Order: sequence, then structure tokens, then C-alpha cells
Amino acid sequence: MNRHSTIEVALGDRSYEIRIGSGLLAAAGRHLAPLLGEHAAQRRVVIVTDANVAELHLPAVQGALDEAGIGYGTIVLDPGEHTKDFPHLERLLDDLLDHDIERNSMLVALGGGVVGDLAGFAAAVALRGIDFVQMPTTLLSQVDSSVGGKTGINTRHGKNLVGAFYQPRMVLADIDALATLPRRELLAGYAEVVKYGVIGDAGFFEWLEKHGAALIDGDVAARAEAVAQSCRAKAAIVSEDEREQGARALLNLGHTFGHAMEAEAGFSDGLLHGEAVAIGMVLALELSERIGLCPAGRAARLRTHLDTVGLPSSPAGYGFEVEALLAHMGHDKKVQAGKLTFILATEIGKGVIARDVGGDAVAGLLGDHLG
Ligand code: GLY
Repeated sequence: MNRHSTIEVALGDRSYEIRIGSGLLAAAGRHLAPLLGEHAAQRRVVIVTDANVAELHLPAVQGALDEAGIGYGTIVLDPGEHTKDFPHLERLLDDLLDHDIERNSMLVALGGGVVGDLAGFAAAVALRGIDFVQMPTTLLSQVDSSVGGKTGINTRHGKNLVGAFYQPRMVLADIDALATLPRRELLAGYAEVVKYGVIGDAGFFEWLEKHGAALIDGDVAARAEAVAQSCRAKAAIVSEDEREQGARALLNLGHTFGHAMEAEAGFSDGLLHGEAVAIGMVLALELSERIGLCPAGRAARLRTHLDTVGLPSSPAGYGFEVEALLAHMGHDKKVQAGKLTFILATEIGKGVIARDVGGDAVAGLLGDHLG
């Protein structure tokens, strides 16, 4: 199996490549140099990362840039979701300006979703926009957040409420970086991989049923294949609907339930985003079955797969209350004109946007789990 793939996100003159494979961080200079062009020596490159990722992967990237003769500065952030806020954005922008960035400078976002979202947003607004490259080091960021240009920060009103659609110039996803991820974090990212199967590719879902456990256990070829297939799916959706006017919303499968549960859990380590998405996807399929959209048995098939790999598949046991979850859904930013919008499915592999889902069916479903 070819462990290296290149996938294009087709967006006209903002198109870019996602390069996936082993050893890419150690070859980062070679990949970056053509983007910097003939005046590379005059362009400032600034690597933005966090302290955890810096310890694991920064020397490889710095060594690769040294080898390619690319000069750079480095900014190391505190690790954790709390850095995705206004104070840290302000500090990062000041640090970038301290590095004497210019309009033609290049920011490298090295890390997981938090670094990618924050640094990507900083790139979008620094000097009204400088180039940036995503070097995602977690499964979640490799298959989802580094691709498609969603950047931003959290505010006291909620997550990701301030930001910009701002596309990177390239995504370099080094599969080897996944070897250093804690198993729980890897699994949380895997939920987003499963999502691509459920919303659009029954064959991929079946492939995951066969290879998912090996992937989690460290099979590098399976990891490379799953990341590539996920990025292909995401690239196709983003190319069709960059600003989430339609099809891109399918990527939110499991996220309405998931977001409510995450909020109730206080966005804590008690329930990781991917874990909430895994449970949310099962609930979405159960809801699809209940309202007659989807034949029976699909939710059970998904639950079996999630249980096999070790992801949670039920909202029970977290102390959630139906009313509290419903309240969060009522405040969800995906609500339009007072009606609940859910991403549901008519089959495994066929996601749909359902704009008029009755609250009763949702309350009944949650009541059966939590009542
Ligand atoms: N993570 C969902 C999206 O990029 O649209």
C-alpha cells in the first residue's frame, strides 16, 4: 500500500495540497521551499506550536528548515484549549509582530486543533492576512480541523464563535506523529474518521469495520489510508461548499448532540470532543430510525463498531439530564428560525441535512437513554 498521498482541495487560485505520509515533518523544508518561491531567503517563516508538541516534533521541523536553508522564528504556546481565546490571540499577534513579520511572511501551525485554529486565525488577521501552512500532529487535526480553512477562537458565548474562513497554503500530515498520541486522544480523532463513512461512504465504513482496530493499535498503513480517505472526503465537501451554505454541514453529524453533551460536561477531559461526536453519531442514527428516515439496525451497527474500537457509544453514565441537553440544543448556533437542524442519515453512507426535526422525537430519544 502506498503510504504517501497527495490530495487537492480545489478552490480556484486558493487551491492547495494535503500531503499525507511518513516522515513528512523531517522533510518539511523540502515541502515548504517551493511555496516560499525564489525570494525564500527574504521571507520570514514563523513556526507556532505548543509546549507539548514542541518537545516531540519541533526539533525535526527546525532541522528540516535548517537543512533547506530556510530561516525561521519559533513561538511556543501553552498547551490546551484555554489558549484559544482573545488574550492568547492578542499575545500571539504581538509575538508575530515582534518577529518582524511582513505581508509575505509564512506562519507554520505545528500541532493539534487548538494550535491550528488559533494560529490560522492569527495568520488571517496579522497584517490583514499572511500565508500559513498546517502541520497537524493529532488524528483529529489531520482528518478534520487542519483542512478546510475554519480558523478561530472561543469566547464566553461559546466555542469557535469568532474566526474566519482562511485557507492554508498546504497541509502536511505526518502519519508518524500519531505514534506519540495517547490512545484516548487517537480514539477521539478516530470518531471523525468514522463520521466520513457514515455521511458519505458505506464502503469506507465497511473498511473501517475491518481495519479500525488495527489502525488504533498502530498499523501505519491503515492510519495512512484512513487519513487519506478522510481528507479526500473533506476536500470534496470543502471544494463544493467552502462557507457551509449546504453540504459542508454534513460534517456536523453527531455534533448537535455532541456539543450539548460537551457543554454539559463543561468542555472538560471528562468527555473529549471526539467522544461526544461518537455518542452523538449513534444518537443521530437512532433519531433517523425513529422518525422513519433510516431502516432499523444502522445505529446498532455503528454502536458495535465504536464499542469494538473502544469509543463510547451511549450518553448514559455521565450524569446528563434531558432538559439540560435540550436547552443546549436550543442555543446551538446551528439552530435556524427556531427549528432544530440535525444531520441525520437515510443509510450508513448517506448523510442528510434535516431542517425540521421535532423536539418531541429528540426528547423521547434522550429520555429513553437517560430517563
Ligand atoms: N469540522 C467541520 C468543518 O470543517 O466544517
